[in-house]
Parts: sequence; C-alpha cells; structure tokens
Amino acid sequence: MEKGILKISQISKIYTLKFPLIVFILILLSFFSLFIKAESYAVATRHHLATDIGMKVLEEGGNAIDAAVAVAFALAVVNPSAGNIGGGGFMLIHLAEKNETISIDYRERAPIKSFEKMFQDSSGNVIKGLSLNSILASGVPGTVAGMFYVSEKFGTIDIKSLINPSIHLAKKGFVLSDFQAKNLNKYKKKFAKNEEAKKIFTRTNGFSEGDNFIQINLAKTLERIAKNGKNEFYSGETAKKVANFFQDNGGILTLEDLNLYKLRIQKPVCGSYRSYEICSMAPPSSGGIALVQILNILENIDLSKLNHNSEEYLKILLSAMDYAYKDRAKYLGDPDYFRVPQDLLTSKKYAYEIYQEIQENKISPKVNINIIEGEETTHFSIYDKWGNAVSNTYTLNTAYGSGIIPTGTGILMNNEMDDFSSKPGHPNTYGLIGSEANKIEPKKTPLSSMSPAIVFRDERPYLITGSPGGSTIITSVLQEILNVLDFQMSLEESSEKSRIHFQHLPDILFHEQFDGSLIESLKKEKKLINRKLGEIHSILIRKDIVEAFSDKRRPDGKASAVYK
Ligand code: DON
Repeated sequence: MEKGILKISQISKIYTLKFPLIVFILILLSFFSLFIKAESYAVATRHHLATDIGMKVLEEGGNAIDAAVAVAFALAVVNPSAGNIGGGGFMLIHLAEKNETISIDYRERAPIKSFEKMFQDSSGNVIKGLSLNSILASGVPGTVAGMFYVSEKFGTIDIKSLINPSIHLAKKGFVLSDFQAKNLNKYKKKFAKNEEAKKIFTRTNGFSEGDNFIQINLAKTLERIAKNGKNEFYSGETAKKVANFFQDNGGILTLEDLNLYKLRIQKPVCGSYRSYEICSMAPPSSGGIALVQILNILENIDLSKLNHNSEEYLKILLSAMDYAYKDRAKYLGDPDYFRVPQDLLTSKKYAYEIYQEIQENKISPKVNINIIEGEETTHFSIYDKWGNAVSNTYTLNTAYGSGIIPTGTGILMNNEMDDFSSKPGHPNTYGLIGSEANKIEPKKTPLSSMSPAIVFRDERPYLITGSPGGSTIITSVLQEILNVLDFQMSLEESSEKSRIHFQHLPDILFHEQFDGSLIESLKKEKKLINRKLGEIHSILIRKDIVEAFSDKRRPDGKASAVYK
C-alpha cells in the first residue's frame, strides 16, 4: 500500500470503531456547550458600582429584569447626571421562555396644563432656555412606575431588596471619580439656581476625585419608595412634596399629573437585516423606526465588501441617515396624538426607493442651525443565564436635567419638555426640528431618539446594545450593529472605530477621528465638526461566549460577563 493513502475498507474500519466514540464526544460537547450557555450572564453600565450591583443580583439567582431594576435605582444615585427617578426612559425586554420581546415606555408625559405655545413669547418667538432650565421644563416622571411595573410583572425578587443597595449608596456615599468631580463642578451655575441642588451638588472649592458623595434626602425618598411602593412617588408624601414645590415656584406640574401617570407596554419595532432580526423602541421614540429604515436601505448593498470607514462606506451611511432623519422630523411623534406611518417607513419597498434615489445622488439642500453635544442619558444592557435580555436607556435629558430638586426630596427633575418641538421648524437643543407630529399637548409624550436595541440570531438575543447622545443615539447604535453584523468585529474592536453622525439638519457631518486625506475629501462636500459620538454599553452572545463591553469614550463604565 502506498504511504499516506487509506483504502476504503480501512476507512470504514476506523469509522466503525470510532463512530460511537465520536458521537459520544459530540453529544458530550453539545451538552457542555448548552451548559456553558445556560450559566452565562453579563451586565454593562455607565458606572462600575451599578454594574457590580446588577451582577450580584444575577449571581444570587435574580433574572435580568431584577438586575435591571437594581441597576436603574443604583444609577439614580451614582450617576446623577442621567440615572434618575425624576426622569423616564424605555426598556426592551426579551423573555426567553416565551420567546417574546416587549417594550415599556416609561417616558415623561407633558403636564395637563401644558400647551402648544408655552415656550413662546407673545410675538411667537421661542424664549431661550425655558424648555431646558426652568420650572416648566419637566415632564411627569415615569422611571418609578416603569421599575415597579417590570419588577411586579417579570421579576422574581422583592423590589425592596433591589432598592436597598441604592439607599445604602445614597446614605453612606460613594467615591467620586475624577470625571464625576469635574462634571459636577462644570454645572455649578445650573445648581446654584436651586437651593437643594446647590446644597447637594456644589462645594465652595469644588469637588475633587476621591470625595465621598452623600445624598441624604435622596436616601430618605428611596427608603419611602421601598417601604410604600410606587404610590409613594405618585400620590404619597414624595408626590406631595414634588407637586407643592412646583406649585410654589410657578410650575404647572400637579399632584393630579402624578396621580394620572401611566406607562405604555408596546410592541417593539422589529425588522430583518440580512440573517438577523433587530428590535428597538416604537414611537414615541424615533429610534426603532429610524434604525430599521436605515438598515433596510443599507441591506441593498453588501457592506462587508467595502472597506470599513472608507469614504465610499461613510457616504452611503450618511445618505441613509439623511433620509431617515428627514422623515423623523416630519412623521414622528407620540402615536396617541399623531398617526405615525410606521408600516411605510419600515417597509423594504420604501427603503429600496430611497436606495435608488441615493444612487441618483438626490440629496436635498439644507441650512445650518445650531446643535450642541448631547451630554447625558445612560444606557445599560443585561443578559441572564436563562437567556432573558434587557436593553434600557433612560434619562433626565441634558446633564442633571433642569437642575431643579423639589425641596426635601433629593430628586433631580428632568428637562424633557425640550424634546417637544417648541415651534414648528425651531431646533431643540440637539438641533432636531419637528412639526405638528411633535407639538406640545397635555399628557403627550415628547419624541425621543433613545434606541435600546436587541439583535436576534436564530430567534435568540445576539447583541444587546444602546447609547446616550441625544440625536446621535440612533447613528451610534446603528454603527455598533453594522460593525458587529457586517464586519464581525468584537465589541472592543467596534468601540475603537470612529463614528459619524448626520441628521439631515443641520447640513453638518459630525465625525470622530479619521485620517487626514479622508477628512480633506469629505470636507469638499460637507461642513465637518469633530466631536465624540455616543457611549455604547453592549453585550454580545456568540455561541457559548458572552462578551460585554462599556465604551471607553467616557470613564467609570464597567462591563462584566461570566461564562462558566
Ligand atoms: O429622548 C431623547 O432623545 C433625549 N432626551 C436624549 C437625551 C440624551 O441622550 C442626552 N445625551 N446624552
């Protein structure tokens, strides 16, 4: 017999001998891999203490929803610029056992006494700052309602024990990082306008790294909430303190507003992208529709054949973003008040028409308007050992919200009313314009860009992701999805890649670091502004490996993953 060549009979002999063994090993391996998968869990948040609290809940047998509730309350203490009980947000939950994905809209609602022109003077000019820094800036907060709802409905642990770590952190304090100390000092003027905010959030000589930061009134409020439940916030002592403060200080938010707060349980907006399914928030967020619309447009091109972040790639991205943001301004608002053409905007056919227009280079001319950096909001992602997933983004809107704390509560109030269109065509703080769809009306929810997302592969969570960043949230989340799905990047690799953002108006391409020749070339067509974009906290579940990553664009975040 020639060396190296096996006869058929010999092969079949080996086959007969080894086959049962191979099958046995394969069965063992697949059992083992299931076992690994079943034991994997992860948390990624904006603050290491919140991540540790979430991980502890999971370690001790809680599910992803339990961990989410504990993390949300913890961030209200350790990340006061965005974590909150005085604001609102969106939570996307995937329940593994039922193979069901739902979303909770616990965003702020306009007070009953609000009206379309409340931020305009008698000549119809928008009064600067009124929707951001005044007593009129706050919507009715939804976070406490949101956390109690998900805990009661899907949680397994008594909510009291999920709030307790936050009470402890507020009472005993936590150590400020350099970033946090400087950030607090940066907003000194904002806090100076409100007695309690000034007392808690300012120091004569400023805060320094390492200071222990205590919030006694917030601890007491959290204690009352833990003891008395959700009603404490919406009709109890806390509600009365909040309502009285607003009444005494020229506000319009009343006890009735708090009593009537209702969250919405919604079907998320889902779409397919190549072999994946992606789900994100339905209106009143623009996130789900815009993400699905952009992905539908991009699906017409094999992006993986292009060089990542090449000029060709970026131009396609910015054209798709352009169309989605144009539609956002025109068609998106609270669905209870405005008929949002969701089916059209998320259809493959509509996306294909846009794709064809892009090919013909039909981009409409635009004007430039002001836009500021979206500074705060916070996202966290959680995955548990049963395969449940939570993707949550919540906020006070800009950093520390309105900077107003109703006396005795320690609760920073949001300034989410700025997310409404104060006047058609007038840009909000993120340069976003709106129309009829997003005008102010009593009890209405302002339009949002928050886009907590879950990508599915073979009907299982594959990527759990989201970001802060105001109007840039959608495009940051989009690029995370493209990096992982089209370019097979790890989360760390993805976060190291520069991002772009384009939102139709203003006609400015926001970008991170790109090499000089690319910038020179892009400059010929667009005004460019260099700034940081997004802060992603993701979990990626690839076969049996769970990877979690917190964007290094900001310090203090932490991602932990366990796979046993
Ligand atoms: O809901 C929204 O779209 C805004 N209120 C989010 C604000 C934000 O992301 C601030 N920055 N990071």
